[in-house]
Amino acid sequence: AGPANVSATGADYGAAPTTNAQQGRRLTSAVGVPLRNTDHSLTAGPRGPILLQDQHFREKISHFDHERIPERVVHARGAAAHGVFEANGAAEKITRAAFLKKGVQTDTFVRFSTVLGSRGSADTARDTRGFATKFYTTDGNYDLVGNNIPVFFIQDAIKFPDIIHAGKPHPDREIPQAQSAHDTFWDFVSLHTEGQHHTIWNMSDRGIPRSLRTMEGFGIHTFRLVNDAGETTLVKFHWKPKLGVHSTTWEEAQIAGGTDPDFHRRDLADAIEAGAYPQWDFGVQTFPDTEDQMFEGIDLLDPTKMVPEELAPVQIIGTMTLNRNPINYFAETEQVMFNPANLVPGIDVTYDPLLQGRLFSYQDTQLTRLGGPNFQQIPINRPHAPVNDMLRDGFHQAGVHGGVAAYHPNSLDGNNPLPTPPEEGSYIEVPQRFEAVTDRKKAATFDDHFSQAGLFYRSLTPVEQEHVISAYTFELSKCWDETIRKRQLQALANIDATLCSEVATGLGLDAPSPTEPVEDTATSPALSQVGGEWPVD
Ligand code: HEM
Repeated sequence: AGPANVSATGADYGAAPTTNAQQGRRLTSAVGVPLRNTDHSLTAGPRGPILLQDQHFREKISHFDHERIPERVVHARGAAAHGVFEANGAAEKITRAAFLKKGVQTDTFVRFSTVLGSRGSADTARDTRGFATKFYTTDGNYDLVGNNIPVFFIQDAIKFPDIIHAGKPHPDREIPQAQSAHDTFWDFVSLHTEGQHHTIWNMSDRGIPRSLRTMEGFGIHTFRLVNDAGETTLVKFHWKPKLGVHSTTWEEAQIAGGTDPDFHRRDLADAIEAGAYPQWDFGVQTFPDTEDQMFEGIDLLDPTKMVPEELAPVQIIGTMTLNRNPINYFAETEQVMFNPANLVPGIDVTYDPLLQGRLFSYQDTQLTRLGGPNFQQIPINRPHAPVNDMLRDGFHQAGVHGGVAAYHPNSLDGNNPLPTPPEEGSYIEVPQRFEAVTDRKKAATFDDHFSQAGLFYRSLTPVEQEHVISAYTFELSKCWDETIRKRQLQALANIDATLCSEVATGLGLDAPSPTEPVEDTATSPALSQVGGEWPVD
């Protein structure tokens, strides 16, 4: 596939990031006045003080002083690329999403990231990777804001500040903990054992990918698709890299990070520049939208659980090709915003308590990070679909809105008197019935924190298991508080006895006995295989 310069709708926002860039051959001031000299300030005599009247000096220095915006509170370090997604039509029966109809091509922008490091941290740290995709569909922007690990650390968004505070650098010395090697992280996940499943994926080779091009991506939450007939299906989204899944060893990651902290972003940009466009198949696991939203005993609303692919195979519904590097890191990669609440007709949310909290958090943080309420107008964020939103004014307003009536419908301006029935083509939330008593309590189906972690461990090959043992042993050896190390060993005992005893031996501690029943190895299905047919009908 060649570069997608123009979208299916003919719009070129995002594809034309040079909008408002520099023009002409003369150096000018910000208001276009030609300048004679930008190397010497205006001084009182050749050795005197700078004059306040030097507008060029003040403009140049002051603009520089304000060049930085806050980095993202999480996922600060990232690399991105433009691409195109083509649907194969396999999802048409279960969703009315226009961009999933057969043969439709949609522009995309993908930002990969590490979660915990700052903007200047190394690419190669052991960490979860973000995999955020913006689809510029004809029905507006759809953001799938996922990770390279299929489950999350916590079950409820209200704990997100806590897990992030535990994972970010210590507040006294600001020493980065990109390898999670410190007391607060292990304190948190050994106290909040729902984090154990995600953590074992981090401690596996999945935590140190070889390349951004060789990572899977997961939407993690269960989403609800709705078709033209109003029928609903629950789904989990998957990205499968055509290049396969590859990781580094810990030693390789250390060397690569030491010699080239930009290892991953360089690899991505170089590959695209060379025409070796990375591709991912996009797929869904589907589940009947039953009242209890359970599947084979797994609570689909618990984001710390996955559904093994033997139980629900991934059916491919399209393919994405990344084929164009950003021209300007700040304008595109830094200013892009993703929001799980950006949904298009045909895709709805579920009541996963983690997803529910995310629906608030992203827009809220972007109001600060991107300087006010008009960040959707930044070229990289603009939809490739008409916008007629009645939102007005605010900091950094770039639109010059005509007409007198900023409300809908109105009988004064031409394009707002509802030419089509309001329901037609609109986003409609799937109606849901509730009968519930408010409480701060999770269902008992959220209680099992260990069995899928054990299942994952036992699905690995012996050499992969060896890597997991080494990773825990190394990381826990950096945890100075023995109470925390012992508490984490207790969690490992509940995951897998051999894993626990190997790590305990490495740490010079006794292996505790499990406090929870550990699943029978022989009957555990592997979690990482693909296969089978899709039972959509
Ligand atoms: C940023 C994924 C949970 C708050 C991000 C990004 C990704 C991501 C990929 C980076 C987006 C980019 O490249 O710009 C996920 C996943 C989650 C999850 C997969 C769980 C399944 C949460 C929760 C919260 C949260 C529970 C808060 C309650 C944020 C915030 C940002 C962010 C504030 C920064 C956004 C920005 O500055 O634009 N997340 N996240 N995330 N996430 Fe999450």
